[in-house]
Amino acid sequence: MAVIGPDISQAKKVLDAGELVAIPTETVYGLAGNALNPVAVASIFETKNRPSFDPLIVHVPSLAEVENYVTDIPAALRKLAEHFWPGPLTLLLPRATNIPDIVTSGLDRVAVRVPDHPLTLALLAQLDFPLAAPSANPFGYISPTSPQHVNAQLGEKISYILDGGKCKVGLESTIVGMEEDEIVIYRLGGLDITEIESIVGKVSVKSHSSSNPQAPGLLESHYAPTKPFLLGDLNEMIAENKSRGIDFAVLSLDKLFPAISSERQIALSPSADLKEAATHLFAAMRTLDESNAKVILVELMPEAGLGKAINDRLKRAATKG
Ligand code: TXA
Ligand code: MG
Repeated sequence: MAVIGPDISQAKKVLDAGELVAIPTETVYGLAGNALNPVAVASIFETKNRPSFDPLIVHVPSLAEVENYVTDIPAALRKLAEHFWPGPLTLLLPRATNIPDIVTSGLDRVAVRVPDHPLTLALLAQLDFPLAAPSANPFGYISPTSPQHVNAQLGEKISYILDGGKCKVGLESTIVGMEEDEIVIYRLGGLDITEIESIVGKVSVKSHSSSNPQAPGLLESHYAPTKPFLLGDLNEMIAENKSRGIDFAVLSLDKLFPAISSERQIALSPSADLKEAATHLFAAMRTLDESNAKVILVELMPEAGLGKAINDRLKRAATKG
């Protein structure tokens, strides 16, 4: 298993050697390697079993550093960066030639962000290179929001996990770019669209198409748990599964059912606070996926604020057909 600790100099040593370290961010843990070293980046894909057509986000310590890796920052996107970095915002910007093809899968834009975590910001400030990092989960599985999640799934393959505790946002970053003069959201995430619109006005959302060539990683199979996740009305699904004698567990926004044992149900936020729900989402999905229940019954969140991003993840996790 990997060593879990808060030692930045150990993390730097491993990364300087071209190897990988799991790093904490405010969104989810990342599996990080030197973004300027194609061999290190290749080992990220290998470690995740990720198809290499899926490009990676480059993590930098500041907006000023971004200038080294892109050829232009459109004014509207610069405004967003100034407002929300460090934070759960990723920008797609025209890439400079020092970014290897393997990072962008040959696309002409590179995804960059300044993560909001003190340990990772301190680490980035000490490194001579930015960090390419996808979420630190095997390809297609639920993203990790604690060092223990990372260790359980990738611990055999990496030597060090930088321990920054639990992720305080819990959903991946919101991905934003421009097409002509229009601002486009390619992935709903931890930064709410209404916050973005309060700075730059109306934006369009293109995140639901799984065939969207601009965000090839957004496959429908993402976040797939090992057990069936069924979306619908909880009362109806509970009644049906009870009558058929199927061992089920329940994931709700705020409802707890007195007739169901506490190990078989999780309410993401007893006060129905969608930010709190986002923080607990991936850990709750894992806990229920690892329970003895045969199916997980899930309700969708209200389509407001972070509820949209949470629903996006739940729909991708849900059993099709
Ligand atoms: O919050 C986050 O964004 C986390 C933390 C670790 O920073 N990272 C993350 O990375 O979620 P990943 O690889 O799991 O998801 C990145 C998404 C993928 O869907 C990928 O297709 C898209 O970003 N992406 C990356 N570079 C891109 C590019 N150049 N053009 C279009 N989409 C890109
Ligand atoms: Mg991911």
